[in-house]
Amino acid sequence: MLTRILSKHRDLRNILKHLNTGNREIKYSTKTNSKCKTSNPPRILITGGLGQLGTECAKLLRKNYGSDNVILTDIIKPTDEHLENGPFIFADILDFKGLQKIVVNYRIDWLIHFSALLSAVGEQNVPLAVRVNIEGMHNVIELAKQYNLRIFVPSTIGAFGPDSPRNPTPNVTIQRPRTIYGVSKVHAELLGEYYYHRFGLDFRCLRFPGVISSDPPGGGTTDYAVAVFHEGLINKKYECYLEPHTRLPMIYIEDCLSALFQFLNVPNEKLRRRVYNVTAMSFTPEELFSRLTKHIPDLQISYKPDSRQLIAESWPQVFDDSEARCDWGWEHKYDLDKLVTSMLRDVNQNCMPKLNDLAEVNSYV
Ligand SMILES: NC(=O)c1ccc[n+]([C@@H]2O[C@H](COP(=O)([O-])OP(=O)(O)OC[C@H]3O[C@@H](n4cnc5c(N)ncnc54)[C@H](O)[C@@H]3O)[C@@H](O)[C@H]2O)c1
Repeated sequence: MLTRILSKHRDLRNILKHLNTGNREIKYSTKTNSKCKTSNPPRILITGGLGQLGTECAKLLRKNYGSDNVILTDIIKPTDEHLENGPFIFADILDFKGLQKIVVNYRIDWLIHFSALLSAVGEQNVPLAVRVNIEGMHNVIELAKQYNLRIFVPSTIGAFGPDSPRNPTPNVTIQRPRTIYGVSKVHAELLGEYYYHRFGLDFRCLRFPGVISSDPPGGGTTDYAVAVFHEGLINKKYECYLEPHTRLPMIYIEDCLSALFQFLNVPNEKLRRRVYNVTAMSFTPEELFSRLTKHIPDLQISYKPDSRQLIAESWPQVFDDSEARCDWGWEHKYDLDKLVTSMLRDVNQNCMPKLNDLAEVNSYV
């Protein structure tokens, strides 16, 4: 009798899990501008959507699922361009009722939770980081549970600390971060795994390394690898806040977003865990700058390490993402050389028209 009840219960749980995840057949596109690639696209809410990752992520999802199916939200003012590309609304992740309203009104299926205070900014304002990164996480995970949403939360190399093996850092190992950012990300990982096991919540999390794109970075420890392209092209000089030999894992935005997109669409059965490391390369400031000076020969680099050096020294140098590669076929496309030429092109196209000396810049790319 008991066995029959348990087996019925298991069947029901499996049916519910299947309904929850609703595995849709989805094809990935970065190229076309068509409205929607699938017959039954998910409706997606992005929090913290005007940051470095959110805007580009929204573009990719809109290309694949249709502009109106991706609701970009943040607490800062959008630009005209943001408003042209699809729906934007104000949403503070500390306002649970406000989030509920959006999920209900827009009949949201997936939640991509980008709102956070990054490592360097978090250290400047610990109480705010606790509120945004920890209290905010409580809100979105409860929301996802209440409305059966698939929820993606990015984690980071900053979720590791000086006690973790740094070269390489495996998927499962000691995590004792020394920043409030890292502590809040370990908390998010554990809470998500707990909700998955306890309530069957479709929680998915990738630990990203430093993400490099032409958009302004949000105050992290790996920001130098973005800033040098902007300042290098504009001023021909850059003062680096990390020491020349500081090795950190990195990824170009296109690889980062294709990992996210692919991971969002992996059928649940293929996932052996809810949290995966992903990366593309590891380099030091010295290695990056020497590649860059091949394109900008008059670039002058100086070093003035600050408090971010200590943070960087506690983080992984080389990230082991073999589990993601094995379980769901993650592959990166951009190595350091390709990253440098792509970034020069992106910064030139997206940021330099604001300056007057375009012709001079063009000669570097
Ligand atoms: N950029 C990276 O290199 C990197 C690497 C690893 C992980 N991540 C993670 O990816 C996510 C996005 O990173 P990013 O670089 O785009 O960050 P970002 O700082 O550029 O953007 C974060 C956004 O969150 C918003 N925000 C702050 N408080 C909020 C609140 N109360 N309610 C709603 N929104 C609020 C900010 O306005 C900002 O637009 C973060 O969770 C970050 O930890 C980023």
